[in-house]
Amino acid sequence: MKDKPVKRSCLAIACSPRKGGNTEILARRALDGAAAAGASTEIIILRDFCCAPCKACDGCFKNGRCVVKDDAVQIFDKILAADGIILAAPIFSMGICAQAKMFIDRSQQFWACKYVLDKPVVEDEERRRGRLGVFLSVSGAGLPGVFEGAARVVKYFFKMLDINDAGAHCYSKVDKKGEILERPDAMAGVYEAGIKLATFFE
Ligand SMILES: Cc1cc2nc3c(=O)[nH]c(=O)nc-3n(C[C@H](O)[C@H](O)[C@H](O)COP(=O)(O)O)c2cc1C
Repeated sequence: MKDKPVKRSCLAIACSPRKGGNTEILARRALDGAAAAGASTEIIILRDFCCAPCKACDGCFKNGRCVVKDDAVQIFDKILAADGIILAAPIFSMGICAQAKMFIDRSQQFWACKYVLDKPVVEDEERRRGRLGVFLSVSGAGLPGVFEGAARVVKYFFKMLDINDAGAHCYSKVDKKGEILERPDAMAGVYEAGIKLATFFE
C-alpha cells in the first residue's frame, strides 16, 4: 500500500462573469481554508480563459480527448491533477450560470472516457478515492429550491470526473457585489469545506 499523500492539491474554478463577485469571494475563502490545512491551492477564473462550447461532434468518443484545442485543455489537465475541486458559480435565470454550464458541457470528453471507452478518468485507484468536490453558490433572491437544478448539474460534473461529491454550500439573498462578506456563516462554512478538502486522508 502506498503512503498517504503528504500534501493535497485543491483547485477552485470560479465561473461567474462578475469580477470579484460573491462566488469568487467564496471560492477564495475555501482555498484559504485548504491552504491553512496544508494543501497547495490554485484558482481558475473562468472568464479569463477562452473556451469554446462543445460542438457535439462526438470526436472525443475516439480517444477521450476533445478535438477543440483551446484554453479548456489546460483547465482539464489541472482538474485531473487536483485532489480537491471547488466549483463556484452563481444562480442566473433559475439555474447555474451559463459560463459554468458551458464549461461542464465542454467537459464531455470525460463522459466519453467513462461511458463510451469504459475507462476511469483517473486511473490510480487511490487517487480516485481521494478526489473530493464541493459546489459553492449564491442567489440574489430567496426562492425555495432555487439551487436544486444547479446542484444536480454539478453532481453530474463531479461524477463524470471521478470526484466524490462532498456537498454544496449555497446561500440565498446575496445579490450585490461583495455582499457575501456580510454573511459570516457563509465565510466560515466554505472555509471549513476547504479544510475538509485538504485533510481528507487524515
Ligand atoms: C443575468 C442574471 C440572472 C440572475 N438570475 C437570478 C435568478 O434567477 N434567481 C436569483 O435568485 N438570482 C439571480 N441573479 C442574481 C445573482 O444570483 C446574484 O447577483 C449573485 O450574487 C451573483 O453572484 P456573483 O457575484 O458570484 O456573480 C441573477 C443575476 C444575473 C446577473
